[in-house]
Amino acid sequence: MTISHIFVASDHGGYALKGEIIDYLRGEGYAVTDLGPETDASVDYPAYGQRVGQMVTVTPDSLGVVVCGSGVGISIAANKISGVRCALANSTELARLSREHNGANVLALGARTHFVDPWVKIVGTFVTTDVDRAERHERRRSQLDGLC
Ligand code: RB5
Repeated sequence: MTISHIFVASDHGGYALKGEIIDYLRGEGYAVTDLGPETDASVDYPAYGQRVGQMVTVTPDSLGVVVCGSGVGISIAANKISGVRCALANSTELARLSREHNGANVLALGARTHFVDPWVKIVGTFVTTDVDRAERHERRRSQLDGLC
């Protein structure tokens, strides 16, 4: 898939890493929109997960990256949006599998947690891995969609 756009947001816990991710992705040539916050002041993560989820679902061939302290809260928020499959990954293996098998369209990272691989490799793997179109994966993804 040729990625049209990548939407990125965080809370205060993920603010610093968000900036590094945006710089990295723009350096790789991607069109990136920063959906906030604009400072590291304390904010509530649900609205930022929601922003990314909403933009990804209305923008064809786009992906999202969300970051909070643990990655958990903002991933739950993003997954509340119908059509979002947000995966919390701390390794390239999980980033790759979330794309190939689950068709994840939003990656969540926990900035204050342990990464098995460098975050740059996790993000890089996520945005360069295509969804596996094998029938068994398509069937399971359709079942996921049916749960919404
Ligand atoms: C903020 O203190 C923290 O709760 C948040 O970044 C995240 O870890 C929530 O899941």
